[in-house]
Amino acid sequence: MNVLILQGSPRANGNTAWMAEEFKKAAEAAGHRVTLADVGRKKIGGCLACEYCHGKGNGACVQKDDMQALYPLFAEAEALVLASPVYYFTMAAQVQAAIQRLYCIQKPPKLRKMALLLSSYSPDVYDGAVGEYRGIADYWEVEDAGVVTAKLDEQKTDATRAKVVALAAKV
Ligand SMILES: Cc1cc2nc3c(=O)[nH]c(=O)nc-3n(C[C@H](O)[C@H](O)[C@H](O)COP(=O)(O)O)c2cc1C
Repeated sequence: MNVLILQGSPRANGNTAWMAEEFKKAAEAAGHRVTLADVGRKKIGGCLACEYCHGKGNGACVQKDDMQALYPLFAEAEALVLASPVYYFTMAAQVQAAIQRLYCIQKPPKLRKMALLLSSYSPDVYDGAVGEYRGIADYWEVEDAGVVTAKLDEQKTDATRAKVVALAAKV
């Protein structure tokens, strides 16, 4: 299966990047083709709702920014993993922007499964991000493979690695 991981933290060696890398290693070991896209430092503008994509653009977005490199990855993705730090009780803006810019294609055409990896400082701060993620999975009618969260004392631990590996086994 083609697996696309969107890693939304701008911190290259942070906790979200660690979870994403552990997922990648486990999924590759299971035989999947995995692309890890770090979007945390990318320039991805929000959707302008200009409807260019649904008219003259014929499916292409009018904005020529870093999102252009992601469209071919979404076109091939059969599983999508959103990996994000919790920022103000939801996913990082870069992850949200990348998802919202899919308005031009409505849904990644080959997508069948999704999974979510979240990193936070505090416990019990996941409802916003998980609700958003599940709403998108429902809207696209794809299977929710599951969610792994890691608060401060769970970051980069063997226990969290085991949860990530177990989730990777479900894609
Ligand atoms: C802008 C910003 C907003 C944050 N908001 C929250 C929050 O609402 N709840 C929380 O528990 N942690 C919050 N944090 C902390 C991060 O979620 C936490 O440190 C996370 O592990 C960072 O992931 P990273 O190491 O992959 O960058 C915030 C951090 C930043 C920079």
